[in-house]
Amino acid sequence: MNKFKTVHVSSGGYDVLIGRGLLFDAGQLISLCRPVCKILVVTDDNVAPLWLEKVTSSLRAAGFETETMILPHGEGSKNLSCYGRLLERCAEAGLTRGGMIAALGGGVIGDIAGFAAATYMRGIAYIQLPTTLLAAVDSSVGGKTAVDLEAGKNLCGAFYQPRLVLCDLDTFSTLPDEILSDGAAEVIKYGVIADRELFSAMLKGKPLDAEYVVETCVRIKADIVGRDFYDRGERRVLNFGHTVGHAIEKLSGYKITHGHAVAAGMAYETAAAAANNLCPKTIAAKIAEANKAWRLPVSAGFSASELAAAAMLDKKIDGGRLAIIIPKADGRAEIQEIEAVDFAAYLQAGERLLSEVV
Ligand SMILES: NC(=O)c1ccc[n+]([C@@H]2O[C@H](COP(=O)([O-])OP(=O)(O)OC[C@H]3O[C@@H](n4cnc5c(N)ncnc54)[C@H](O)[C@@H]3O)[C@@H](O)[C@H]2O)c1
Repeated sequence: MNKFKTVHVSSGGYDVLIGRGLLFDAGQLISLCRPVCKILVVTDDNVAPLWLEKVTSSLRAAGFETETMILPHGEGSKNLSCYGRLLERCAEAGLTRGGMIAALGGGVIGDIAGFAAATYMRGIAYIQLPTTLLAAVDSSVGGKTAVDLEAGKNLCGAFYQPRLVLCDLDTFSTLPDEILSDGAAEVIKYGVIADRELFSAMLKGKPLDAEYVVETCVRIKADIVGRDFYDRGERRVLNFGHTVGHAIEKLSGYKITHGHAVAAGMAYETAAAAANNLCPKTIAAKIAEANKAWRLPVSAGFSASELAAAAMLDKKIDGGRLAIIIPKADGRAEIQEIEAVDFAAYLQAGERLLSEVV
């Protein structure tokens, strides 16, 4: 068996295994923590030709019975229609409550397959096999599962923990550059909010030290989620860049990918915080520099009022108030709440500063 590192996620009680070649060992590794059963492997049409066969052969060799479902790639599949088809596929495949779903892919597959697992027969086991940097460092850990509604991102979902996460770093070898950069955006986020060294490493751009980066980010996320599972307190720092990021995704009709939107979102949100005297202006310039090192955007061509209007249906707005995340320039971030109606003015203040750092 290939070597791996283990990060335990206490909230949910599961392990994240990080190493190379782990998909070839998937059957053995899963059988160490789950009884042999029928597994529906859910993936997308980009990942399937690259990695699906390796996973299903390994599962079968360990005695698991496998079924597969291949969805079209991209955010456009994270909707109620594909979710419904996936549930029907679970039933058609004869999955029972002892069965399992394996999500093989990026965050889109992880989110939709996790949500199907949360709801099929009132919940069956699932595991995450992330194949993008973004999924490895972020979406496969923490148990947020969801699909999008017409009204906005991730508006229909559940908190539901996987039983195991296998991060095979070799899967990054087939990632196109811009999709690796999507993941780099979330890594920059972790650096800004929680780890100065990680942020400095990301300022240098490529090459990516995948093992260091994935392990560091997963540890940060496991830690934060362990203290605030339901996203009501500290976990909200992980949303840095995401209020504006989700608005950008929505306004672009999901043509701008999640990671690129989050990168621009971090730039807008930091410029706004700096312009409102909540953080040093230098941090806005540093974030722009990190984004540029990974060929990520520092703006998205939408005005503050467009962004604020698109953000109004965000889940993060509660009782008319919105949590804003303020980076403190030393691997730490603070959460403050403002009235949602003041968000447009808050962002507007940052517009000029943003154009200076671009
Ligand atoms: N649940 C959470 O906590 C959480 C956190 C962050 C993001 N997300 C969600 O994650 C999604 C974004 O995830 P993503 O960036 O992984 O997008 P994605 O799943 O769409 O994957 C990006 C693209 O890469 C392709 N791909 C995946 N793995 C590949 C590989 N190894 N080789 C070649 N191509 C590969 C996919 O087919 C797709 O076209 C968004 O929907 C976002 O909302 C969820």
